[in-house]
Amino acid sequence: MRQLKSISELREQLNTVRKADKKIILVPTMGNLHDGHLSLVKQAQKIDGLIVTTIFVNPTQFVAGEDFDSYPRTLENDLSLLEQLNPDIVFIPDTNEIYPDSQIKAEIIVPELDSIYCGEFRPGHFRGVATVVTKLFNIVQPDIAIFGEKDYQQLLVIRSLVQSLDLPVEIVGSATVREADGLAMSSRNSYLTDEERRQAPILYECLCGIADAIKQGDSNFEKLEKNGLNRLKESGFRPEYLNICDAETLKEPKNHKLVIICAAWLGKARLIDNVAVHTYD
Ligand code: PAJ
Repeated sequence: MRQLKSISELREQLNTVRKADKKIILVPTMGNLHDGHLSLVKQAQKIDGLIVTTIFVNPTQFVAGEDFDSYPRTLENDLSLLEQLNPDIVFIPDTNEIYPDSQIKAEIIVPELDSIYCGEFRPGHFRGVATVVTKLFNIVQPDIAIFGEKDYQQLLVIRSLVQSLDLPVEIVGSATVREADGLAMSSRNSYLTDEERRQAPILYECLCGIADAIKQGDSNFEKLEKNGLNRLKESGFRPEYLNICDAETLKEPKNHKLVIICAAWLGKARLIDNVAVHTYD
């Protein structure tokens, strides 16, 4: 596992790989790695190619007042976890390497997804994500890039930008890895107190309950959403949204592919999760 910090070094190494006609697979992260992140690297290992994992806490996707400064940075531990899987390259740029002189002179925006759901509550977040991911695509020029379904709206933003801008990269979505009690793994789970941590799986339970009701034929989505929000509030969450949407657009459900998406605060942690439902009526 080669650790690289500069874009020029990385490009140099990757040019040799490209000449050898080997596929390049990108797994971007912000570090503080857990089994969810590691599952993406494992997924990459199923493909024959060279794996580049990146660790970069991207300032532009944090909205003013959010946890950029306190976001868990655990590089030493991340590297020892990665060493067990041994991806070929880990790219760990500092902020100045990605944004020299703090300059951002161009941004990528995916208008349809930019200001709904997480985008409404975190204005500017998806521009920051879309911009840094596009930069990473341009730096690494991967054939394939792997992202978690855990961040469902983010995955759609990335798919949309790749399609709209004709970027020559295949996007692979990878299933959410959960704790034994169902809570989706997340770096921000460490913000939960012990008591909150015991309550946290209710979010996933709630989404699964709605998914079961839909599968059993309940089509009163408004009521299902309202009941879900009430259950979360009664359990001490402060939900931002809980919606049953079309799985491809996040708009009103149109066909049989749905996704139930939710963001809710529990104490100091903002938790997001989603459950896909396929109906075949
Ligand atoms: P981060 O939150 O570190 O997540 C990195 C990748 O891991 C994302 O693709 C995310 O969806 C995936 N992931 C996180 N938790 C997961 C889980 N429990 N199961 C499966 N996959 C999981 O997402 C980001 O960083 C950033 O926005 C990034 C794409 C790196 C751009 O800065």
